[in-house]
Amino acid sequence: MKGSVLRLQLLIAAILVTLIARNESDGYRLRRSVLPSFYNLTINIQASRNGGLGYSFIGEVAITLQTNQSDVYEITLHKNSLDISSCLVYNKDRILCQNVTITSLKYDQETHLLTVPLLEALTANENYTLYFKYTGYVKSRGQGVLSEFYKTDKYHSVYITQLEPVYARLVFPCFDEPAFKAKFQLRLGRPSEYNAVSNTRLIGTTKKGNNSYVDHFDVTPIMSTYQLAFVISKYQARGNRSEFAILSAPENYNYTEFSFNVAERVIDAYNKVFDMPYKNLGNEVLLFATSGWFDDNAMDNWGLIILSEKILVQKPGYTDGHTNKEITCLNIAHEIAHMWFGNSVTLSWWSHYWLNEGFARFYEIFLTHQVNVK
Ligand SMILES: *[C@@H]1O[C@H](CO)[C@@H](O)[C@H](O)[C@H]1NC(C)=O
Ligand SMILES: *[C@@H]1O[C@H](CO)[C@@H](O)[C@H](O)[C@H]1NC(C)=O
Ligand SMILES: *[C@@H]1O[C@H](CO)[C@@H](O)[C@H](O)[C@H]1NC(C)=O
Ligand SMILES: *[C@@H]1O[C@H](CO)[C@@H](O)[C@H](O)[C@H]1NC(C)=O
Ligand SMILES: *[C@@H]1O[C@H](CO)[C@@H](O)[C@H](O)[C@H]1NC(C)=O
Ligand SMILES: *[C@@H]1O[C@H](CO)[C@@H](O)[C@H](O)[C@H]1NC(C)=O
Ligand SMILES: *[C@@H]1O[C@H](CO)[C@@H](O)[C@H](O)[C@H]1NC(C)=O
Ligand SMILES: [Zn+2]
Repeated sequence: MKGSVLRLQLLIAAILVTLIARNESDGYRLRRSVLPSFYNLTINIQASRNGGLGYSFIGEVAITLQTNQSDVYEITLHKNSLDISSCLVYNKDRILCQNVTITSLKYDQETHLLTVPLLEALTANENYTLYFKYTGYVKSRGQGVLSEFYKTDKYHSVYITQLEPVYARLVFPCFDEPAFKAKFQLRLGRPSEYNAVSNTRLIGTTKKGNNSYVDHFDVTPIMSTYQLAFVISKYQARGNRSEFAILSAPENYNYTEFSFNVAERVIDAYNKVFDMPYKNLGNEVLLFATSGWFDDNAMDNWGLIILSEKILVQKPGYTDGHTNKEITCLNIAHEIAHMWFGNSVTLSWWSHYWLNEGFARFYEIFLTHQVNVK
């Protein structure tokens, strides 16, 4: 009896040791030897043949990063379905120190880990810039940059992003784990008949060609990669895009008043309940954009909440019943709660996801009750 128990214990110990060793060598997680602090990101949606939105984009990202160690001979980060055409390393004085040969980049299809080999070790506690130029792809389903349509007399394209939890790497090479927080600044190239919104305030637009403009957005607060978002569309705004607005297809403009009022009251209520008003978290803008067939009901991107059209749009006699309105209130209150619980304060790893959702769920009910919208 005893002997077999011991053998069983040894067997279990052996299995555990193997599992732990395997977990460590599995190598899905980034080491924390190199930390990014700033992403200067440009995404140019290529025009399609008819002048609309094309299905690929050219990206450029300059990542400011630093190590606190003296023996760092490579930088490992994420990418997925991006074709890199240029990789450069600049030192703190912005002098090019390495033009990395594309064929020397190491990539693991399964873990999405991209390793940039360095000729010299990085100097500890000094900023470097890691630059990539690449081509990325718009998808009609799933995650990343997504293309959808709405129909009036003709079809109109809408491009939206969905990057949680591991899809920022489909849009730009990045340290795509929630604890690797940094600031981001986005420039977005788009055809002239479209408009664009992102997490932060639009600070300028420059003309790039006959049919194309580049929108410059303000620097984001320190946040996780999965929080980055943009919407390119012909949407119309109820409210002010630089502060607070609901964006929907122009045909739905008349039916976003209810959501607008709810969101306004909910944000006021949160500002009173928490000692830290929304704007003090680090972003002045809070926008809501509709999505016709967004897979998840909603996404809590910081400053640009994307919600299913069914929730934000209240059509008379069709989606404006009592139950619909209650769902709208709960969803708006839930997504706004994430600005505090998830965005400003963030889980260190996805196994703590319950923290985000637990708080958001609690406040969704608490706040909906408080604002008491009829
Ligand atoms: C970001 O990159 C652009 C060039 O793509 C450059 O003009 C701009 O100064 C950069 N911004 C910062 C804050 O480094
Ligand atoms: C470097 O930074 C990491 C992550 O912040 C930390 O765990 C480690 O102790 C630091 N190492 C040194 C030598 O300061
Ligand atoms: C880097 O190397 C490539 C290939 O040799 C070359 O085409 C490119 O101009 C170089 N870039 C810089 C910034 O030197
Ligand atoms: C490194 O870059 C970050 C972000 O751009 C900046 O806040 C920080 O001051 C820089 N550090 C040094 C030592 O230059
Ligand atoms: C822009 O339009 C002008 C006049 O129609 C034309 O001459 C020029 O080639 C166009 N430029 C580009 C980049 O398409
Ligand atoms: C929108 O908000 C911005 C930023 O607060 C402000 O400067 C601008 O005047 C507002 N626009 C309108 C039309 O109220
Ligand atoms: C929206 O409301 C305005 C004013 O009541 C009305 O003139 C317009 O036709 C409505 N638009 C739609 C698409 O229903
Ligand atoms: Zn949630």
